[in-house]
Amino acid sequence: MSKPRRPLIAGNWKLNNGGQDGIDLARAIAAEVRGNDSVDVVVAPPASLLHRVSEVVAGKVGVSAQNVHQEASGAFTGELSAGMLLFAGCKWVIIGHSERRQFFAETDELVKAKTAAALKAGLQPIVCIGETLAEREAGKTLEVVNRQLDAFSSVIKDKPGVAAIAYEPVWAIGTGKVATNEQAQEVHAAIRQRLAGISAELSRTTRILYGGSVKADNALGLLNQEDIDGALVGGASLKLDSFMGIVNAARQVA
Ligand code: PGA
Repeated sequence: MSKPRRPLIAGNWKLNNGGQDGIDLARAIAAEVRGNDSVDVVVAPPASLLHRVSEVVAGKVGVSAQNVHQEASGAFTGELSAGMLLFAGCKWVIIGHSERRQFFAETDELVKAKTAAALKAGLQPIVCIGETLAEREAGKTLEVVNRQLDAFSSVIKDKPGVAAIAYEPVWAIGTGKVATNEQAQEVHAAIRQRLAGISAELSRTTRILYGGSVKADNALGLLNQEDIDGALVGGASLKLDSFMGIVNAARQVA
């Protein structure tokens, strides 16, 4: 079965691999990506490495930031704008990761503003949504996911296929507790259906990634689901073999 959308596998290194290890890993991943690869491969190193990683991957691997500020410039000490990330070689930016929402108090409104800023500058956002364990157990999964999606969907609708959405159940991130293929597919299908309410083209072209304890040995089952178009990978993206195992699973379904 081939996928209706080109698979996207993105590695979110978080606060890891920030030295020579990161440069070496990026170079090694680029060496494994083919010129005519059937999968889009993206890495999101710490911001301090973006420029150098962009140079070593030489366009074979997409480079993503892990965060962006919503303003283009100004007195915002310590922040980076979308234009600056673009200049550092980024094509992508992860927005609204649950760790940003949880530890840095990012709200749905802020996620919307950041998504708009990224798109305006020409970056492709990977916008993260997902419920906590308490929300899932209270039967509120779709309510939460829809609320988070509705917050920014008006911003992505005019550029169908540019932004990706990552469904990452918070209880599955870094816990080893992956959602079952059916649990993930159910939410992905609901997200796609919600997008269809905005525009058929947006629904058809938007890549919806699954994230949360994706590993080489569970990736194929997830990627085989109709509405799962790729993966946002944390822990398993920090080493070449485990990351390429997931990329290879995506190549099988592409
Ligand atoms: P994990 O992280 O793969 O380590 O669960 C996923 C993420 O946070 O994007």
